Amino acid sequence: MPVSATSVDPSPVWFAAGYPLRAHNTFGFDVRAHLACRIESEADLIAAVRDPRAQGLRTLVLGGGSNVVLTRNFDGLVLLVALSGKRVTREDDDAWYVEAGAGENWHDFVAWTLEAGMPGLENLALIPGTVGAAPIQNIGAYGLEMAERCASVRAIELQSGAAYEFDAAECRFGYRDSFFKREGRDRFVITSVTFRLPKVWQPNAGYADLARELAQRGLPEAQCARDVFDAVVAVRRAKLPDPLVLGNAGSFFKNPVIDAPQFDALVAREPLIISHRQADGRVKLAAGWMIDQCGWKGRALRAAAVHERQALVLVNRGGATGNDILELAQAIRHDVLARFGVELEQEPISL
Ligand code: EPU
Repeated sequence: MPVSATSVDPSPVWFAAGYPLRAHNTFGFDVRAHLACRIESEADLIAAVRDPRAQGLRTLVLGGGSNVVLTRNFDGLVLLVALSGKRVTREDDDAWYVEAGAGENWHDFVAWTLEAGMPGLENLALIPGTVGAAPIQNIGAYGLEMAERCASVRAIELQSGAAYEFDAAECRFGYRDSFFKREGRDRFVITSVTFRLPKVWQPNAGYADLARELAQRGLPEAQCARDVFDAVVAVRRAKLPDPLVLGNAGSFFKNPVIDAPQFDALVAREPLIISHRQADGRVKLAAGWMIDQCGWKGRALRAAAVHERQALVLVNRGGATGNDILELAQAIRHDVLARFGVELEQEPISL
């Protein structure tokens, strides 16, 4: 059901042809946009795509640019999503409902909810990117997926300019997947997300790395969301590279999920394989472990490298191109398939 778009003076800021995208993608690739436009409101967005300068051009939405591999200059219009604002829209006996603009920095938003006394997102601390990108790939970490806290997603349909409100079911969330990554891609631009944060807080601290970190801090039973938040930040800092220091897009591959018979045959050959049985009987495999076993951890192909502390993360050591990263990814995929018989699926989109 379309709902009405907010009315703000349409005044998007346009950038000259050849606008550099280096600061707008977490790999830090040095590519340029034919045209770029800063989007601070839904009215900006509608005005931008209807502008004569945009006609006939492909569009690319960039928030933090944390889930994209840019292999070349983009010959269309880049929409730099910068919608801001965070507020409690309503509350009932059970939960707070908090809305945030798509351009808000994800980690800052998580920290803000905790400071405002509304826990529930602490397991997702320090994930790079923006609020608007979070539903697209259903970000998840340390035992929590954003889908579990999502009340609704607001998005503008580019062609009609109509605003839509998607409830969590309509977002069709899956593991690192959603409607917005598939059918909705190129059709909708997310402008805000509303989260449902339950008033009764329950720690979600069972994930092995997180439980270990809490135990080391003398907090085997996390007392409050801040304990979990601090521990998640520490684990991420220890294992995952900061994109501001070393360009990367987080996990480069999804953890593959295979059928039980395929898993039984595989585990007979590879008894040490790290796996998690899913509710539907299928089995999720730790792709980082498989890549590590193939000897790729820390290895490089020109300036594209496999992170030294987490083999699932590919990094730009400086001066790598998107194609360097894709070439490295292809070599890794080849070796994992050869040894384990499992296809790795790339997480970020490449353009
Ligand atoms: N492992 C290795 N070697 C490695 C990497 C991992 O042996 O180089 C082993 C670990 O020891 C562990 C297992 O593989 O036993 C899983 O590793 P880890 O706990 O680090 O998690 P992951 O499966 O590699 C996933 C998410 C991460 C998320 C972590 C924590 C995906 C694709 N990745 O990684 O998400 O932070 O779990 O919940 O599901 C992201 O999506 O960008 C991301 C960083």
